[in-house]
Amino acid sequence: MTPLRSPVRLACPGCGREYEERSFASICLDCGSLLDLTAENADPKAVLKRRFHGRRGMTRGIFASGVWRYRELVVPTMEDDEIISYPEGNTPLITNARLMEFAGIEALMVKHEGMNPTGSFKDRGMTVAMSQAKRAGARAVACASTGNTSASLAAYAALAGLRGLVLIPAGKISMGKLAQTMAHGATTLAVRGDFDDCLALLREASDALGVYVVNSVNPFRLAGQRTIVFEMLQQLEWDAPDWIVLPAGNLGNTSAFGAALEVAHGIGLIARIPRLAAIQASGAAPFAKAFADGFRSHLTVHPETIATAIRIGAPASWDRAIKAIRATNGVVAAVTDEEILEAKKVVDEAGVGCEPASAASVAGVRQLVARGVIGKSERVVAVLTGHMLKDPGIIVERGRPPIEIDATLEAVEEALSRA
Ligand code: F0G
Repeated sequence: MTPLRSPVRLACPGCGREYEERSFASICLDCGSLLDLTAENADPKAVLKRRFHGRRGMTRGIFASGVWRYRELVVPTMEDDEIISYPEGNTPLITNARLMEFAGIEALMVKHEGMNPTGSFKDRGMTVAMSQAKRAGARAVACASTGNTSASLAAYAALAGLRGLVLIPAGKISMGKLAQTMAHGATTLAVRGDFDDCLALLREASDALGVYVVNSVNPFRLAGQRTIVFEMLQQLEWDAPDWIVLPAGNLGNTSAFGAALEVAHGIGLIARIPRLAAIQASGAAPFAKAFADGFRSHLTVHPETIATAIRIGAPASWDRAIKAIRATNGVVAAVTDEEILEAKKVVDEAGVGCEPASAASVAGVRQLVARGVIGKSERVVAVLTGHMLKDPGIIVERGRPPIEIDATLEAVEEALSRA
């Protein structure tokens, strides 16, 4: 009997080699390219839309997750009892007048991925990668991280009952992220070096030690992260915006967004493809520099930025991010730390709140509008990737300090009159 053909294909985009779906490979053993995961879909768009609509608002079971709601487009072969879910996703799409005013456009929305269970978009990829780790029988899971992936890995490894190992750049991750990683019980190694050193070491260690790597080089992670786009499009009733703007570091999300738009457009869920704008911090902007040069060169830089989440000088998903930018007629830009901090202050004071790296997207919208790249009447969704409380240090350091007073009414009155 011929086995049923799986609708899921794990394959190398470079040389075409195919891998068994439960393989632990993220990188082609023949040519070294990052593997792609694709889910073949046979359902017409109307059927999918009806199903996605029907699952919205469910409070129990796997469809309570804003990732697994789109199961047909994620990993359709994952069985209910194999899924490790918090649940995650279901993040708000926010309209805020102060943000629009700051950015200089009238139709700006922000998709707040900081409202995921561990406070960043990483949970969307982690539910898929951890489910894969568990069903394929991994002993331990590991990642290199600027902090958010490690927090998410630690939580999901705990949910799955797997051992977690994380490599972080010593002294260069924010307090909130470190605390989460420690609290959820992952083995945490602070490496003297930057994120790029951590990732290189992890790749070496994973081969030698046989742990499953769940960085964004992992195709299951990216399959989960595509749902940021699916969910946003569903929230917009499949009327695609003109632009989707996101912060970019290791370029996993940029790649995932490109793939998601290709899938959504291919099926006919959306009639046209929005343009992607990937925003880097200017001290860690090899991709923005390469874009300016028509992607003729593959650069690496020594990264430095206050936005520690995107303090990355040698992005891993380089080639597939180029594909995403080209396929969406996208752009790549860089914003300075000052621009990031200015945007963060506005986002925070608007009552929305985000971590510094996330503010890069809002700073990016403002810059692109000022440069005339984004038109004043265009509809834009900016993605906020992480929660404000991820990096309390920067707020305490730079924000308005509390006013210490004696416990008297006069002191309160005086403080109020000064404020
Ligand atoms: N925003 C936040 C808050 C992040 O934590 C990251 C990446 C990005 C944006 C950039 O996304 O790498 O897909 O381009 N953080 C990773 C980590 C590197 O280890 O937590 P990307």
